Amino acid sequence: MCGIVGYIGSRKASPILLKGLHRLEYRGYDSAGMCLLNGKIEMFKTHGKVSDLENEIQGESLEGTIGIAHTRWATHGEPNDANAHPHFSQTKKLAIIHNGIIENYSTLKEELQNRGYEFKSDTDTEVLIHLIEDIQINEKVDLVEAIRITLNQVFGAYAIVVLSEDHPDMLIAAKKGSPLVIGIGENEFFIASDAAPIVEYTKNVVYLNDEEVATVNRKGNLRIKTIKNQEKTPYVQKLELQLSAIEKGGYPHFMLKEIYEQPRSIKDSMRGRLNSSKGIVSLGGIIEYEQKFINARRIIIVACGTSWHAGLVAEYMFEELARIPVEVEYASEFRYRDPVIYEDDIVIAISQSGETADTLAAVELAKSKGATIIGICNVVGSSIARATHAGSYTHAGPEIGVASTKAFTAQVTLLALMALSIADKKGAISKSHFYQLLNEMESLPGKVEQTLNINDSIIKLSKIFYQAKNFLYLGRGYNFPLALEGALKLKEISYIHAEGYPAAEMKHGPIALIDKEMPVVVIATRKGSYDKVLSNIEEVKARKGIIIAVVSEGDQVVKKLADYVIEIPETDKIFVPIVASIPLQLLSYHIAVLRGCNVDQPRNLAKSVTVE
Ligand code: G6P
Repeated sequence: MCGIVGYIGSRKASPILLKGLHRLEYRGYDSAGMCLLNGKIEMFKTHGKVSDLENEIQGESLEGTIGIAHTRWATHGEPNDANAHPHFSQTKKLAIIHNGIIENYSTLKEELQNRGYEFKSDTDTEVLIHLIEDIQINEKVDLVEAIRITLNQVFGAYAIVVLSEDHPDMLIAAKKGSPLVIGIGENEFFIASDAAPIVEYTKNVVYLNDEEVATVNRKGNLRIKTIKNQEKTPYVQKLELQLSAIEKGGYPHFMLKEIYEQPRSIKDSMRGRLNSSKGIVSLGGIIEYEQKFINARRIIIVACGTSWHAGLVAEYMFEELARIPVEVEYASEFRYRDPVIYEDDIVIAISQSGETADTLAAVELAKSKGATIIGICNVVGSSIARATHAGSYTHAGPEIGVASTKAFTAQVTLLALMALSIADKKGAISKSHFYQLLNEMESLPGKVEQTLNINDSIIKLSKIFYQAKNFLYLGRGYNFPLALEGALKLKEISYIHAEGYPAAEMKHGPIALIDKEMPVVVIATRKGSYDKVLSNIEEVKARKGIIIAVVSEGDQVVKKLADYVIEIPETDKIFVPIVASIPLQLLSYHIAVLRGCNVDQPRNLAKSVTVE
């Protein structure tokens, strides 16, 4: 988490840095800060958002064509002004921005304090800049060398940029574990945590690899060395990202824009991979690994948050269609559990950002045990995508709203393609069922488009329930993970307590919570365990709970029982988590808006969790 930006060139740096911070604010918004070099390093920083920083610096001249800036998601030290980045060295001749965690910071800090260094913040970051300066002065080495030596002494993750008063024509960046991209312009460079702050200025980028240190200067030179002092040739790639994809395009929030993008994003995840008339599903990225899938002892899915929910849906798909046993694991638990992993296991890592630290660590662990690792990522070139043996991108386009929407439906779509492809190649599914499911998949973008028409009725519903204190979400089978996802969406952006439960499991606990104040969202679509869910609805009604039911179009049975119904187009039970996501996303969105919540930047959360 945390977003970092750097600029060096002939333009005024501050507008580029501030705009860049806005684009990276999804990564954290506890504090914001910027340093500009104009003879001396000037520092501006505050707790709060980038807009708070902008208010703070109003009226300042903000000169300088070189600078660094940071938006923070607090890990070490509370989100106050002192802990905001950048951080100065003792002489104030150096300043640093950092994304990541320095795990051995307390030992290093103690050593530095014993040598007289005064710390101004509680952050782990500050040790880096003191150590760099210390090495520079005491070992009499140049700045790049001092940074290289420092990075050999730290454990943990970092993406850093260092600004130096004595080097007004140079910026130094380095990374390990946290992402860093360098945009190459005409005698100018843009450095950022992802391509969003860069795309407006150049399409030529270099993704820095772990343990690389890059030096850029005004003459247009980019030099990369590893922290072990090996020279590297920069590998320049062309960005495919379009500026329009990272702007709101007339919507009040990114989340709403992303909800409405789903007919397109679902189509994009299937594009070129599915031909229903010919009965072909082909995922180029995993073709070489299909036989491993077919022979797999089991599939282990590792993920966090919403991606974990997509993994649960995939468990049902792979087991039912391809008859391969599946385990779905929270990456954070898996990595520390000493799990049993066999060489003929397939591990699927699901991650929108491709940067989630726990998922990445789970991938490394499974790799070390000899399993085959398949990535399902949205961000092209991300760390998880690079760490896996093979994989497929979801192609949902940039997702900026912190609450995941289109990435989830794209993940489920892609996992369905994967399960179908393996099921077919393994001969585990009949041809007629296979064809029928492929046909149904092709109709999904249209059905999702149609479902978006219910927005007005969801607004009405939200007006009834936006002051509720609790919500319960119930579903069975494929709709159980969706109940979890619906509850997560609501709690993360509206701060209403919500729980998702398998409908039948409700009677083992949550039923005690049900009274006339409790809205219960039940996903009760016709295919699947319909009759069983009907009984669960009766159980809620008997305790005077309020039923909001998501039903298949034309349903009359649930209509009689439920207090409110949301109709969605009929689809196969496997695909209900895709279509029925729409009303659940819209419900949480409108409730959050009515409660005055900051939908795109919910408190305490960040989109890309690069710390464990
Ligand atoms: C954060 C985000 C969630 C996301 C989770 C996993 O918590 O707020 O929306 O589901 O991380 O992220 P990933 O990028 O690995 O899917």
